[in-house]
Amino acid sequence: MLLKRSLAAVWHPCTQMKQHETLPLIPVAYAQGCWLYDFDGRRYLDAVSSWWVNLFGHANARINAALVEQLSRLEHVMLAGFTHEPVVELSERLSRLTGGALGHCFYASDGASATEIALKMSFHYWRNAGRPAKTQFVSLAGSYHGETIGALSVTDVPLFRDTYAPLLRKSGRVPSPDSRLAAPGESAWDFAGRCADGLEGYLEAHHHQTAALIVEPLVQGATGMSMYDAEYLRRAREICDRFEVHLIADEIMTGFGRTGTFFAHEQAEITPDFLCLSKGITGGYLPLSAVLTRDSIYGAFYDDALARGFLHSHSYTGNALACRAALATLDIFETDHVIDANRARAAAMNVRVEALARHPRVRDFRSTGMIWAFEVESDDPAIGRRIHEAALERELLLRPIGATVYFMPPYTMTDEEQALLVRRTLEIVESLG
Ligand SMILES: Cc1ncc(COP(=O)(O)O)c(C=O)c1O
Repeated sequence: MLLKRSLAAVWHPCTQMKQHETLPLIPVAYAQGCWLYDFDGRRYLDAVSSWWVNLFGHANARINAALVEQLSRLEHVMLAGFTHEPVVELSERLSRLTGGALGHCFYASDGASATEIALKMSFHYWRNAGRPAKTQFVSLAGSYHGETIGALSVTDVPLFRDTYAPLLRKSGRVPSPDSRLAAPGESAWDFAGRCADGLEGYLEAHHHQTAALIVEPLVQGATGMSMYDAEYLRRAREICDRFEVHLIADEIMTGFGRTGTFFAHEQAEITPDFLCLSKGITGGYLPLSAVLTRDSIYGAFYDDALARGFLHSHSYTGNALACRAALATLDIFETDHVIDANRARAAAMNVRVEALARHPRVRDFRSTGMIWAFEVESDDPAIGRRIHEAALERELLLRPIGATVYFMPPYTMTDEEQALLVRRTLEIVESLG
């Protein structure tokens, strides 16, 4: 009944709705820890953290308690002309997590909006600085930065982009340092350097018009979990500095410990000019995104002239409940020493996945921090969907990207759940004809 009503009234995201004639929706009655439960007692292990947002399990007692407490005080107030404790504390704590290098924090509600904000801020900075010709952006081949028109302009995933190409702004593309593309015998580090040479060549020719380079640090998620060496980011930072081009780190997916450090860019020992955050920021509870930037960039907007200010806004900017969920999430990171604990969790998982990685049908098994990915060899263009369906039959929520299967589990996944995930995935790989 719920399924019928959903199909009659809800337009589901990232979905060709006709496919639901044969692939049923899954009604979720409630969720607890890493498990989603339907109304008939069936359960699914959330191995993709509900689109990469959930960090500490569903119905987390500590985040729940913080939200209940916040509800009794302030749910929301407009952030233009007003402020409140959760948004101030969150901005201070996020800034501290960048070592104070990024001193101001601007809020929105989803990842794509954070991308839009970073692009607009970068352009506007250069305009305020007397460099109005810097109107272009450059991104990596295979990049994904969201679905709105500006974010899609710097996205390079044909399935999402091609239909809307006539609507998009022209933007530059440079080679992806995806280490699978290295030449035989070439190390990931060497390949990252070679790709950085490509970026250098591009900016040599286009820096006058280029406001910013936008990258997903270390892992390009939506294109199929392409992973690359931190050397690329080190070189990109140096090249962007040399050519006076901003570096935007889109850590919407990679932030909050996903790649093994709190932010992925830490592994390159660099600081971006703009840092986009969302997804895990509220532990997967509420829509919230943030763009952090340097005080020197903030300062270029600070003026008597209204139009030199950043006049962008969203109604729910800095929502108090979402900020409180984010504070509770940061509290868990601190009290539970999550980054250290994840190192042990990842090491345990790396041992568990060995048989899967060695399977003759598995290609390019790779991992970074709390992300594991591989391709399944198959001629079937619908292999991803088949794996998704086979996983559901085995109580797993997997959502392959084409032939790329990945695990991006909540950090609270237990040893038993990890073992079950790997064992049943292996069964699925075995079962594919
Ligand atoms: C790197 C990256 N940037 C931006 C986005 C867009 O975020 P949202 O779906 O919240 O708009 C995503 C979402 O998957 C992402 O992975």
